[in-house]
Amino acid sequence: MASDALTIRNARPEDAPELAAAERAIARVPGRLAPRPEEIDDANILKMIVDLGAHDCGIYLVAERGGAIVGQALLEPLSLAVTAHVVRVTLAVHEGHQGQGVGRALMNELLRWARANPRVEKVELQVRSVNARAIGLYRSLGFVEEGRKTRRLKIGPNAYFDDIYMALWVGP
Ligand SMILES: CC(C)(COP(=O)(O)OP(=O)(O)OC[C@H]1O[C@@H](n2cnc3c(N)ncnc32)[C@H](O)[C@@H]1OP(=O)(O)O)[C@@H](O)C(=O)NCCC(=O)NCCS
Repeated sequence: MASDALTIRNARPEDAPELAAAERAIARVPGRLAPRPEEIDDANILKMIVDLGAHDCGIYLVAERGGAIVGQALLEPLSLAVTAHVVRVTLAVHEGHQGQGVGRALMNELLRWARANPRVEKVELQVRSVNARAIGLYRSLGFVEEGRKTRRLKIGPNAYFDDIYMALWVGP
């Protein structure tokens, strides 16, 4: 019988269709994930799982409860040699499972992994200024605001969101 406890494991290639579908559902409401639903496809998620699985500076995790995937989170290393100490967060708790501690559990695990990895020194993220829950979570974990790009996301005619840049230093 599936347990109700929350467990966190590495994403597997066969998870890609489920993870992409969950992201598309979340992205239907503007102001949460940046891409539109039609911009999220299974192949890109699969590539990310495979690439991060092979990279010692990246990780892609899923949270499971009762045998179902309820959230996903990843750290993606930046590509240049001078930014190789920086990883970028993507975090998505699936519809129907938000506000139950899944986001905090996934972030705690990402940060535990980052702090244990001597090559990772800085964790960065971008969050929409209207996403109070996400900003509250990141602040509570020690992330600080490094800047804001105004009207960076256009969600309709004359409708924009600002993006807030936040970061946490995990290096020495
Ligand atoms: C934002 C998100 C990741 C948070 O994860 P979650 O599982 O829903 O949140 P949790 O239950 O773990 O709560 C985490 C913290 O959020 C903060 N929080 C929750 N609601 C809040 C609110 N309305 N205002 C401010 N802070 C809030 C609290 O600090 C809370 O921690 P606490 O209850 O232990 O004090 C999740 O809701 C989600 O994925 N939403 C859709 C996609 C998205 O917005 N992703 C982030 C893009 S940057």
